[in-house]
Amino acid sequence: MNNNRQLLESLRFDYEASRIGNSLAIHANCFEWLARLPEDCLHAIVTDPPYGVKEYDVNQLAKRANGNGGIWRIPPSFDGHVRSPLPRFTALDHDERRRLYNFFVTWAKLVRRALLPGGHVFIATNAFIAQLLYDALVDGGLEFRGQVIRLVRTLRGGDRPKNAEEEFPGVSSMPRGCYEPWGIFRKSLPTKMTVGECLRRYATGGLRRTQDDKPFADLIPSERTPKKERLIATHPSLKPQDFLRKLVYASLPLGKGTVLDPFMGSGSTVAAAEALEISCIGVERHREYFEISLKAIPKLAAIVVPQAGALLPTCGASSDETWGLLRRRSNPQCC
Ligand SMILES: C[S@@+](CC[C@H](N)C(=O)[O-])C[C@H]1O[C@@H](n2cnc3c(N)ncnc32)[C@H](O)[C@@H]1O
Repeated sequence: MNNNRQLLESLRFDYEASRIGNSLAIHANCFEWLARLPEDCLHAIVTDPPYGVKEYDVNQLAKRANGNGGIWRIPPSFDGHVRSPLPRFTALDHDERRRLYNFFVTWAKLVRRALLPGGHVFIATNAFIAQLLYDALVDGGLEFRGQVIRLVRTLRGGDRPKNAEEEFPGVSSMPRGCYEPWGIFRKSLPTKMTVGECLRRYATGGLRRTQDDKPFADLIPSERTPKKERLIATHPSLKPQDFLRKLVYASLPLGKGTVLDPFMGSGSTVAAAEALEISCIGVERHREYFEISLKAIPKLAAIVVPQAGALLPTCGASSDETWGLLRRRSNPQCC
């Protein structure tokens, strides 16, 4: 842990940053920050990037805030409930898709340099953008290792053809999205190095099995981010603790090392790591979200997540109890 602390301190550089438990939140543009990292210093990345790249541009956020939309689709309210705006990725034109591709090629090159050999990347996407994102990450030098399917009913797709709804009532232009894909990538192992050797040398290369000795599985039943989490962190793309804790846990095969979320938002990945007593660095470019994260991370980390006991130390407690135990400064006797 001391090595991790030293590493965290050395990676602040001259940015505004705040220590939270075992972790560090940094206010920076991750491209600039990643370019300053020494080679081979991070063990894993778990992140939810700006899929459409431009939805977190200042002008697009202003349009979202004043209800004008832009790339943010304002869904109609129903049953008296006003739904949150969603980014409209189908509206990306050829040049914007090119911009997205270039963004992720550049990002993958920086990430590849900073990761230890065998280090894994879990990256959120959506069914519409996944193919473009995966091509870019491979072209940037990462190995494609599969996908995690987060089973969750989204509000995407399923609509009848626009302006022809009555003419074609039996048609949807796209499937209704019932899952969220997360790409799994890895920095390749040195030639001829086996996973065993990589684990010994770098503590990377594989994925951690669950506490009840099951392999990490790539299909994860999930839910919309619970309201109590959304009330803590008012970010439009907040991911649930239950799901993120599974990814963060799996990302360090020996439970040792440092995880990075370079698109931290309000800090849900850092909070998941904190709940697991794992050291994490979160980087966020927008001051508002960075400030939200400083308050949200300890509160999200303290949330007891039900039905996830399979990951956790078997201390003779029920799964709900074990999640509670896993919060920071948890039962010191526990495994
Ligand atoms: C999809 S959101 C992540 C939200 C996060 N999953 C959460 O639960 O709060 C992507 C975040 O990346 C940030 N971002 C976009 N470009 C960035 C960059 N170049 N460097 C750092 N952060 C960036 C955006 O401001 C946004 O908060």
